Amino acid sequence: MDIDNSGEGKINLVRAGKERRDKTMTRETVLSEVSDGIATITINRPEVLNALNMQLLGDLLGVIGEVSTDADVKIVVITGAGKAFVAGADIAQMKEFTTRQALAFGDFGHSVLLGLETMDKPVIAAVNGYALGGGTEIALGCDFIYASSKAKFGQPEVGLGIIPGFGGTQRLARTVGMNKARELIYTGDIIDAAEAKRIGLVGDVFAPEELMDKVREKAQAIMTKGLFAIGTAKRLINKGVDLSLDAALEFEKQAFSALFGSEDQKIGMTAFVEKKAPQFRNR
Ligand code: COA
Repeated sequence: MDIDNSGEGKINLVRAGKERRDKTMTRETVLSEVSDGIATITINRPEVLNALNMQLLGDLLGVIGEVSTDADVKIVVITGAGKAFVAGADIAQMKEFTTRQALAFGDFGHSVLLGLETMDKPVIAAVNGYALGGGTEIALGCDFIYASSKAKFGQPEVGLGIIPGFGGTQRLARTVGMNKARELIYTGDIIDAAEAKRIGLVGDVFAPEELMDKVREKAQAIMTKGLFAIGTAKRLINKGVDLSLDAALEFEKQAFSALFGSEDQKIGMTAFVEKKAPQFRNR
């Protein structure tokens, strides 16, 4: 089993005007483009519906590392090339795994999901089609999910004699509740975007041709807010869920008060009092 995580992505910068900075970071199975503060990551193995193999996970982890440390990136959107978001882990590759290789593969998947969750920037899943198995799990690692009306979600692993291995047994239950998660995982049922919205998995559903524009609109609206504060809220929500309520509330109190030492708090509150739009500096 080869892991190509050499990070030989090509970075191209295109300067168009004074402020605007477009950038692409190309890897074989994952594309990334940065434009106007939004990094769009496109999972790109359309010939197998973007099934996740070792190389793809390595490429994805590399791109996540780049966008999380790139000062030009304020917000991240993840989508898939072609008719799928991700139709799961690559069954052809997994079929031959030993338990040791399966452990390494699971570890690798968990690292990708943790990379999304611990990044101090918002990450939005734009689910354009099938999000099955690892596809639903990657979407669950994002801060929230918008979907095309053609999207389909599910955890069909038990039909292959295995279970979700990239956090699905935990994050799905935390998102839709334990009973719904049990039902979806035991039956392997595939649900459409409307049902995914009804159970709280998906934030909103758009026509397929509108999905990316609508997601970028949402991203732009978020970028007018205090992103430093949003990064703090993200950390609190993600970490707090594993703490006692008491400890989590203490954590919130400390983080809330610390923000009163930030420039953005001065900018935001002064702008409100002066009836102006705030121009946050994200610090
Ligand atoms: N792993 C490896 N290859 C996959 C794949 C996966 N998870 N999902 C799709 N592919 C491949 C197919 O084998 C096919 O390859 P081929 O053209 O060489 O035969 C290609 O992608 C297109 O898929 P196909 O099944 O022909 O498309 P479809 O529109 O008829 O069906 C799905 C779409 C998603 C319903 C079907 O591909 C499927 O059930 N995939 C597996 C889903 C799954 O169990 N995921 C969890 C894995 S843990």
